[in-house]
Amino acid sequence: MATAALQAIRNSVPAVLPSLLLCDFGDLKGELAELTAAGAGVLHLDVMDGNFVPNLSYGMPIVEGLRRHTDLPLDVHLMISDPVAYAKPMVDAGADMLTFHVEAVRDPVETVGKLKDLGVGVGIALNPETPLASLDEAMPLVDMVLVMSVEAGFGGQAFNPIALEKLRSLRRDYPELLLEIDGGIDVDTIALARAVGCDLFVVGSAIFRQDNYAAAIADLNIAIQAGTDQAFASDQDGEEQL
Ligand code: DX5
Ligand code: ZN
Repeated sequence: MATAALQAIRNSVPAVLPSLLLCDFGDLKGELAELTAAGAGVLHLDVMDGNFVPNLSYGMPIVEGLRRHTDLPLDVHLMISDPVAYAKPMVDAGADMLTFHVEAVRDPVETVGKLKDLGVGVGIALNPETPLASLDEAMPLVDMVLVMSVEAGFGGQAFNPIALEKLRSLRRDYPELLLEIDGGIDVDTIALARAVGCDLFVVGSAIFRQDNYAAAIADLNIAIQAGTDQAFASDQDGEEQL
């Protein structure tokens, strides 16, 4: 059963998702207003526990504060060691989609089930070094796969192209599945990811290190279109060779 927020995320495709990690946490209301005016349709919240990843960001109070000031769907990226323990508090705080890391849990299928019971969209994430096969058992159950193009934990890292191969395989095997990429996404890498079938593009420094968020997001959307055109041209070439 798709929630209204999960459907809104699906309807936003293809979409740039600003990642709230490098934003100005001293002015969250202002940041929300600027991102909304810039056309952001979904927000990506980077929750880090200092244990699963060597960085500490924020938890339910920030999610709840954001919820109070925006109606945009909140795509919560749980970079934490015990996603089940914090799933309900995160949903109660206002999360619409919970994405956990396959590397963090013993039983991904059981984890998906417990998160699904909370009535939210459920995504599963994997780091660059983690093979796609680790997702196999959970694939029939998840609403989304988040393919990391950096090692989870920090913004501003260099893009790892292994994510493109994973996205290409996932799109081939799961034509309808929501695919999201996260890490090192800019106007160049976003086009490459779109060309292999990615739907959602998490962006941190390529937005928050720019003066004008609207201009940054507009440039990213133009690059997404270039990737869409590339994918279409590739499909055409493939059909002509048949
Ligand atoms: C990293 C986070 C990403 C990161 C993206 O662990 O999951 O969302 O903030 O930042 P950039 O776009 O700068 O790589
Ligand atoms: Zn993230």
